[in-house]
Amino acid sequence: METVTSLADLRTHRIRLREPVGLVPTMGYLHEGHLSLVHASMAQCASTVVSIFLNPTQFGPREDLNAYPRDLSRDLDQLGAAGVDLAWTPTAEIMYPLGFQTWVTVEEIASPLEGSLRPGHFRGVATVVSKLFNAVQPQKAFFGQKDAQQVAVILQMTQDLNFNLEIIVCPTVRESDGLAMSSRNVYLNPHEREAAVVLYKALIAASRAFKNGEHDAQKLRNTLIEEIHKEPLAKLQYVSCADINTLKELEEVSSGRALLSMAVFFGNTRLIDNMIIGVD
Ligand code: PAJ
Repeated sequence: METVTSLADLRTHRIRLREPVGLVPTMGYLHEGHLSLVHASMAQCASTVVSIFLNPTQFGPREDLNAYPRDLSRDLDQLGAAGVDLAWTPTAEIMYPLGFQTWVTVEEIASPLEGSLRPGHFRGVATVVSKLFNAVQPQKAFFGQKDAQQVAVILQMTQDLNFNLEIIVCPTVRESDGLAMSSRNVYLNPHEREAAVVLYKALIAASRAFKNGEHDAQKLRNTLIEEIHKEPLAKLQYVSCADINTLKELEEVSSGRALLSMAVFFGNTRLIDNMIIGVD
């Protein structure tokens, strides 16, 4: 595996890659969730590029940028062992040089849910992902369903800005007890780690209620709330039962699919999770 940092080196190595090229954007501290995207890219593409960039512009002033876990040498070992062709590890100075002033702002779909609680977050995500797409010029890019609204924002941006690539969405990888894998799980103390399975339990309870005929969206949101409240260490921030395409809150899950999602604090650690319900 080649590892490059500068844009010039990226371009030199990119030209030599066999196409189709798959891109897996990450912020590092890789786990099995990230690696599932890498494996999907390797299965579908002739070459795979992984970017590792802890993007400062998607973190709010009171968020965890400085505390965010990092271990670049372990990340590169894992990518090398997986058979990745090229790892790109740009610096903040490369991505945001002095005088940088162009931003990508996706509107409606980025406004509710995570967008309303993390102002500026999706502007940072859309901007950096646009830059990664432009620099790497992949034919396919791989994202996790774990960050459902991020997927919706990137699909919208890709269409609106005519990026000539296919977005592939991969399922959420979970620990054996159901907790969605996340770089942020390392913040949890052992009690919080045990308690954190409540997100998955709540999603399972609500999706079971849906399968048993409950199509009232407020009742499904209430099921999520009740399950989260059973766990004393969990502090619920929001639950949602929204239209999968618009992310607007539903009154009834009548036709099509819906997205159940939530954010829950354990101490200072904020976890998100989601599940899609509905008929195809
Ligand atoms: P990061 O949190 O490092 O995640 C990189 C990719 O891995 C994202 O597409 C995310 O949805 C996916 N992912 C994370 N946990 C997963 C899991 N348990 N199962 C499946 N996929 C999972 O998301 C970002 O970085 C950034 O916002 C980024 C897109 C790189 C832009 O900076």
